[in-house]
Amino acid sequence: MHKDYRTLELTALYEISKLLGSSLNLRSNLRGVMRVLSEYLDMQRGTVALRIDDVVSIIAAYGMSREAIKSGRYKLGEGIIGRVAKHGAPIVIPNIGEEPLFLNKTGSRKMLKKENIAFLCVPITFRRNILGVLSVDRLFSSTSITFEKDLRLLKIIATLIAQSVQLHTEIEKEREAFLREKENLKHQLKARYRVENIIGHSDSMQEVFESIHRVAPSHATVLLRGESGTGKELVAKALHYMSRVAKGPFIKFNCAAIPEGLLESELFGHEKGAFTGATNMRKGKFELANNGTIFLDEIGDLPLSLQPKILRVLQEKEFERVGGEKTVTVRVRLITATSRNLEKLVDSGSFREDLYYRLNVVPLQLPPLRERKEDIAILAEFFLHKFNKENKKGLKMTPDVLSAFMDYSWPGNVRELENTMERLVVMSDGKTISRSQLPITIKDRSLRLKSGVTVKDSLPSTIADIEKTQIVDALKKSGWKQARAARVLGMTPRQIGYKIKRYGIEKK
Ligand SMILES: Nc1ncnc2c1ncn2[C@@H]1O[C@H](COP(=O)(O)OP(=O)(O)O)[C@@H](O)[C@H]1O
Ligand SMILES: [Mg+2]
Repeated sequence: MHKDYRTLELTALYEISKLLGSSLNLRSNLRGVMRVLSEYLDMQRGTVALRIDDVVSIIAAYGMSREAIKSGRYKLGEGIIGRVAKHGAPIVIPNIGEEPLFLNKTGSRKMLKKENIAFLCVPITFRRNILGVLSVDRLFSSTSITFEKDLRLLKIIATLIAQSVQLHTEIEKEREAFLREKENLKHQLKARYRVENIIGHSDSMQEVFESIHRVAPSHATVLLRGESGTGKELVAKALHYMSRVAKGPFIKFNCAAIPEGLLESELFGHEKGAFTGATNMRKGKFELANNGTIFLDEIGDLPLSLQPKILRVLQEKEFERVGGEKTVTVRVRLITATSRNLEKLVDSGSFREDLYYRLNVVPLQLPPLRERKEDIAILAEFFLHKFNKENKKGLKMTPDVLSAFMDYSWPGNVRELENTMERLVVMSDGKTISRSQLPITIKDRSLRLKSGVTVKDSLPSTIADIEKTQIVDALKKSGWKQARAARVLGMTPRQIGYKIKRYGIEKK
């Protein structure tokens, strides 16, 4: 009988050592160990509890319900498991029925007669560190039994478990370090999609940055689309300065800004005597942009008559100056922008389809500010910092300013936000910018809501109203100095003069 038990012990040990190395899943390995104890050695409800800081929790058990396992959490020093975890010395309760320390927290022994159970509990230690506790219920029938042999065996098993736990902890630590490293790399990758001077944390702007990084080094023609003030010109510049021709010139040209009759000679230059007043040969924008980038803004306003010539420069890289026969060859990268719907222009026949496809090689859409509200706060801070510096001020915004900004729809997009911040910084004398200083259109939600429900037909007049209010506001704050008000609003003095007349604004 005695000898048989000894054989069983050795067999159990052998099984246990095999089990502990069987998989990377520590919990299931340990559950296997507890099963062996139960099946071979009359040690029921074995549990392994591991210590994390001041709490010891059962992580594997056999013969206990999930709920029971979950409730097996002990503070250091609490109950028997907590004591063993605290002091590192085994505890044997020969008869748990008589032991007041026995918490029976897990409630798993309700059905048994306690008299027949001893509770054996040994520490799991590795190099003097108490990692946790191994405990079993030892069933017995004879009262003369001593538990020394059981304890010795459990200590051996605890040593095996300790090594296994230690190994898994190290693997887990390495895995965590690896995951952290992965997160870091991901962050660095994200940071790669940063473009100097362009602010944007929103997903849509991150996509724009990613595209910029992808297409900048290529020589591809890029078509920038988006409402006015969304940053098209800024992106065009970024594309140039991140390209292979960054050292070459960046020439910007707005197709909508110049009368149709002058467009051709502006773009392609003219020879001496090409027309009255052409006293000298003059280079056009394409020649000036040679070995660099030409940025054609408002390309949708390019008249049909000029479109074939643009197409030819793109395809053959050559053209003639106005009034000349000599063919000029250029190497330029073309970037175009439009706030208009080019497809509609193609449909209506005012934009050539072949040119459209040639320009649309890489389309890049800039989202309006109201569709990326998460960028509003950082943009506002960015401009606040910029204008604080320019004006040698140290203004701060109160939180209600940002909340008003978030509520506002920003029809003028980033440009409007930039101008608003400049005006606020220039006009503020105190230390803070608060909601009360905001333009009425941004400040007054009810006004905006009202204008939001106006029917389409009256919308232009609403925008005019808003503009009028802004101009009056700026004039008042700049002491009715038109040039100053214009600067704050991002207008030219000529523009503000025109608007003042058109809206009939008078000093009150
Ligand atoms: N994402 C941005 N980050 C910083 N400034 C921006 C951003 N987008 C636009 N701006 C600023 O807003 C103003 C208008 O941008 P711009 O590129 O001229 O717009 P668009 O050409 O689309 O009308 C510029 O002063 C520009 O510097
Ligand atoms: Mg623009």
